[in-house]
Amino acid sequence: MPGSNPRFLEKAQTLPVDEVFLDLEDAVAPLAKEDARANIVAALREGDWTGKTRVVRVNGLTTQWTYRDVIEVVEGAGEFLDAVMLPKVQDPTEVVWLDTLLTQIEKTMGFEVGRIGIEAQIENARGLVNADAIAGSSRRLETLVFGPADFMASVNMRTLVVGEQPPGYTEGDAYHYILMRLLMAARMHDLQVIDGPYLQIKDVEGFRRVAARSAALGFDGKWVLHPLQVDAANEVFSPSQEDYDHAELILEAYEYYTTVEKRGAVMLGDEMIDEASRKMALVVAAKGRAAGLARTKTFTP
Ligand code: GLV
Ligand code: MG
Repeated sequence: MPGSNPRFLEKAQTLPVDEVFLDLEDAVAPLAKEDARANIVAALREGDWTGKTRVVRVNGLTTQWTYRDVIEVVEGAGEFLDAVMLPKVQDPTEVVWLDTLLTQIEKTMGFEVGRIGIEAQIENARGLVNADAIAGSSRRLETLVFGPADFMASVNMRTLVVGEQPPGYTEGDAYHYILMRLLMAARMHDLQVIDGPYLQIKDVEGFRRVAARSAALGFDGKWVLHPLQVDAANEVFSPSQEDYDHAELILEAYEYYTTVEKRGAVMLGDEMIDEASRKMALVVAAKGRAAGLARTKTFTP
């Protein structure tokens, strides 16, 4: 949500989303940046963000705005903020800079040191090549975020439609390498990994198609730019009822067979399950529980 638009900052509080980020970067015009900082501080302090992770995206380190963004927002509303998003990260030292600044502000203000997290957007070739080092650069780092619009511009990908396959690329998925690369860097350091925006906001089916690809690989979520995209995102990133039931059944059956019958590889219907199946089932079950799904099947030995 652009920090320059107080109406949107109100609206954001009513949406069924897991996280809201209030933007000072590319959704805010240069002349509106200073007012946007004050709007964001007020919205964080006065708004009702219950159930949502509260994040502010500051400007990137090649601009003149970053330090004031961080200082004004965190001094003004640090107790009401969960993480700072740093865009266009190219190098681990950028994250270290933000970590150090946050620590100084937390000490000055008497806040708990280290509570505020960092999300790093990877948006160009240098950031992607350095993704492993960036992912390991700070204990505050929680999430790597793909920035497809800036990324496509930076590598000269020949399309203007963010997230869609570039015309002429007829086989495979032009984003596969990038998404996989980010997924590996994030998981190597136990971070979340989030897919970026889909700009054709009226084309919900297009959003769903693009979101399904990163969800299938294992991404934890995707940005939404408009209320129209929210339901589709929640749906795509939650397991289906069938998969959720299946996962809970695997967990229950595996528990029964390994403890009561003391067997490690067993049959559940027509499929063989073992310790690795349990791990896969844990991921799906955790996502289903987080999405509020209820079981419709129970295990009987
Ligand atoms: C998001 O910041 C993007 O560049 O896609
Ligand atoms: Mg960007």
